[in-house]
Amino acid sequence: MKKVIIDCDPGIDDSLALILALKSPELDVIGLTICAGNVPVELGGVNAYRVLNLLNRKDIPIYLGDNKPMKRELVTAQDTHGEDGLGEVLPEIDIPESAIQLGAVDYLIKTLKSNEDVSIIALGPMTNLAKAVEREKDILKSAERIVSMGGAFRTNGNCSQVAEFNYWVDPESVNIVFQNVVKPIELIPLDVTRKIVLTPNYREYLKQMKNDIAQFIYLVTGFYVDFHWMQERTLGCVINDPLAVAYFINPDLCNGFLTNLECVENGVAIGQSLIDIGDFYKRDKNVFINTIVDEKEFFNLFFNRVFPENLKDNETVLKEY
Ligand code: BDR
Ligand code: CA
Repeated sequence: MKKVIIDCDPGIDDSLALILALKSPELDVIGLTICAGNVPVELGGVNAYRVLNLLNRKDIPIYLGDNKPMKRELVTAQDTHGEDGLGEVLPEIDIPESAIQLGAVDYLIKTLKSNEDVSIIALGPMTNLAKAVEREKDILKSAERIVSMGGAFRTNGNCSQVAEFNYWVDPESVNIVFQNVVKPIELIPLDVTRKIVLTPNYREYLKQMKNDIAQFIYLVTGFYVDFHWMQERTLGCVINDPLAVAYFINPDLCNGFLTNLECVENGVAIGQSLIDIGDFYKRDKNVFINTIVDEKEFFNLFFNRVFPENLKDNETVLKEY
């Protein structure tokens, strides 16, 4: 079992990523740190708690970070994920005061300092990680692996022609993080996540399963599906963040190359993840950028981990669609 901290901003696709992580025997999720991104940070904490509650894993601690990117105001993605961040379909929930704590950055520093075998899966803007570096410059060097969902290489962005949401929200943090790692960050950019479409057929399968987790996924993705149709006339929804978790478990799902990444901090290309594929700047190789993915294998892994009791049905559905 690999120990991981998941830094996230739940978020519809973050919630699916958390479900996958918590249902994967290869992972020991030791804590969740919440960053501001898709929704304000407190709402992200509530949504993380909803997932822990659904999976009976309220033993996992949730820590909130600051409600603001490093140097700019927060722009959320509530148009994409709903006002509540989870598709505006779930009933109110009571949360005990002690379930969500402050101090994401303290927790990251303390945990990384006292363990050499903890990895980070980052599914939102990099604010918490960058703040940890600001306080302890070498802290990320102790992480066993860092996998980040963010950026766009040859595909268009989703916040501008060139910028992906997580990196666009807090570009300064991206640079602080990428400049202070020893091992390359393993990147899951839009180039690969765009292939991960939860199709209407997969959603129909979820609807047919009489299972709380399947119902949750079916319900929360409805808003996301409507958004995708309005925005880009696609049926189904792209689920970015679960691919980062799946790739953490099985790196053979994706492939790419080692290079240098810098994030544009200002101007018309703000948030762009600049990839120095020609090695023009002769900088450190601070990223392994994944550019291809086996999307069929992703869905095999996703359904078989989340619904292991339905292996036979999974096989039938996954073969046909
Ligand atoms: C990323 O932005 C967020 O809206 C998603 O949760 C994902 O992490 C995709 O650009
Ligand atoms: Ca996210």
